[in-house]
Order: sequence, then structure tokens, then C-alpha cells
Amino acid sequence: MSEEPEAPFLEIPEDDSESTEPSEETADQPESEEPAQAKPKRRPPWRRRRRAPAPEPEPEPEPEPQSEAEYTAEPEPAPRLILEPEPEPEEPEPEPQPDPPIVAGRDLRKRYGSGNAAVNALNGVTLSLPAGSFTAIMGPSGSGKSTLMHLLAGLDAPTEGEVWLGPTRLSDLDEGERTRIRRGRVGFVLQSFNLLGMLTAEQNIVLPLRIAGREVDAQWLNWLLHAVGMHNLRGRRPGELSGGEQQRVSLARALIGKPAVLFADEPTGNLDSHNTDIILTMLRRACQDLGQTIVIVTHDPQVASHADQIVFLEDGRITRVASLSET
Ligand SMILES: Nc1ncnc2c1ncn2[C@@H]1O[C@H](COP(=O)(O)OP(=O)(O)OP(=O)(O)O)[C@@H](O)[C@H]1O
Ligand SMILES: [Mg+2]
Repeated sequence: MSEEPEAPFLEIPEDDSESTEPSEETADQPESEEPAQAKPKRRPPWRRRRRAPAPEPEPEPEPEPQSEAEYTAEPEPAPRLILEPEPEPEEPEPEPQPDPPIVAGRDLRKRYGSGNAAVNALNGVTLSLPAGSFTAIMGPSGSGKSTLMHLLAGLDAPTEGEVWLGPTRLSDLDEGERTRIRRGRVGFVLQSFNLLGMLTAEQNIVLPLRIAGREVDAQWLNWLLHAVGMHNLRGRRPGELSGGEQQRVSLARALIGKPAVLFADEPTGNLDSHNTDIILTMLRRACQDLGQTIVIVTHDPQVASHADQIVFLEDGRITRVASLSET
């Protein structure tokens, strides 16, 4: 199945202005033919002079030559009769708007289960992330980090509240449309890596493009395999890889489609400090060089310190947002 890449949403407002043709002024036609004598051009009523009831007709001016061209020629402009279209009232210049956030959540609530067994994983979270920003979400286990990430990525729907991905409100879409938007614009690394056991590392990485019917950019694939240190292990299956190696494969898979937004849940959770550095450097470059927006969940303050801002969650609420980009 082939799928077109996501086209930008562009609404073209309907032009409802009516094109009013100005009515064509026509030359007055002579009322009757007087073949014997050349008749002067008949003046329009507002130009006719009243004649005194003198018996002697005033000497007529020299008759102008009458030709066919004269009748078809444009008459002198008659300001009161020409129906000029009213000039359109000038539209006020639109105020310059700040760039809309690439990801936004408004009053997000998520309840799992019902009755006594209900768990309120999120209790009203509002945040917006500008394009090209790098955000880390931190908080104790069970505070709602993964839940928030799943909602923002469109993997799950909130019980209440709204999620916006660029100009699109995800709750306005059905499941099929949400999937299409996700494939085109979002990459994610889940806490469980979700690699397919029968495919090699490389086949797992390019899988999202194969599913979407998109071309694989061989150069980009090569760059990613080197960046995550998996170029020598590209032919291995997940069962033949360590947890950290599987994690790096899933990160490369999330970036293969050059998504506008990358969500990564504990992307360095199983990595030693050397590999953690490699991954963080890569994420920073994706953010700075490619303008990608990155959202990671982490328990590691060292990892979070690479972000522009840290969002702290507790009991399903944001307790603090620390900006690191200005320090
Ligand atoms: N599918 C589910 N059904 C019921 N409860 C759930 C479900 N998923 C998560 N929860 C509950 O929602 C709360 C938030 O879970 P979440 O996975 O978002 O936490 P987290 O902050 O990511 O934790 P961790 O750091 O351990 O990954 C927890 O109390 C969890 O038990
Ligand atoms: Mg989690």
C-alpha cells in the first residue's frame, strides 16, 4: 500500500467577492433616421440645453462627421451613470502571530479503569512545546510520564482535554487519520522497544517507511546506523542483541522517517555512559541541525540536563518547569 506524504494543511478561504462587471455605457442611438440632413450627435439628457421658445432656431454648429465608428466609440464619460464597482474596503493587515507550538496539550486527564479500580494517571496537564525544542519529562515512577507521552504522540486518547499536533487537533480525527498523521510527523521510542523478532536490526529500522510506502534514504540510514553504533550489527535479529543495542535500534527506527517530533520514553535507560553520550549528542544534533522537536522521558538528571527545558510531573500534574536554555 502506498501512501502520500503528509501534505501541509492549507485552507484557502473561498473568495466570495462577486465580480461585478461595470455596466457598459452605450452610445445614444439616433431616434429616427433623417437621411436628407446630417444630424448632429444627440447629446445625453444631462447635457442638453434648454432651448428658449424662440421661433428662430439657433444656428446649429457645424455637424460633426457621422460615421459608424462614431456610434461605436466610447461616449464621453458620464460620471453619474457609470456604475463603477464600489472600492473594496481595505482589509486590515493581519497581526503577526507567533509560531504555533508543534505539540500542545490542554487540560489533559487520563483515567484507566473505572469504579474503585480507576486510576487517574493524569489530572489536568497543560503544556506547549515550540518547534525545534528539546524537552525532558521527569518524575517518580507512576507519576504519569509515559501516559503523557503516549497522549502527546497520539498513541492513546485522553479521557478529557485536547492534544494539538501543529494545527491539527487529534481529537477531531478518527483512528485512521491519527495513524496517518503519526506516520508522517511523529517518531517514538517506547519503553518496551517493540522490535520485530524475525527482522534484522536494519529491517526493523526501515520498517516504518516500508509500512508507509516511503522510499528509504540510504545515506540517512547509513548515518543513523553509524550514529547509534549499530552499523556492524545491522544484520542481527533482536534476540541476538543486548537490551542497550535493541534500544539503539529502536531509536534509529524512530528517526528514519525524519519526523517533525520525536518522543522517546527512557531512550538511554539501558545504556552505559559512553552510549548515553552518543545518543544524547545525536538527539541534540537532530534538534539543532534538522530542527526536530524532541521530547524524552528520563529518570537521569544528567540526561535531562541536555534538554532546553525539564517538565516535572508528580501524581499526574506538572509541579515545575525548569528552563535550561537561558542559563
Ligand atoms: N493500561 C493501564 N491500566 C491501568 N493503569 C495504568 C495503565 N497504564 C498506566 N497505568 C497507571 O497510571 C499511572 C501512570 O503510569 P505511567 O506509566 O504513565 O507512569 P510513569 O511515570 O511512566 O512511570 P515509570 O517511571 O515507572 O515508567 C500509574 O499508576 C500506572 O500504574
Ligand atoms: Mg514510564
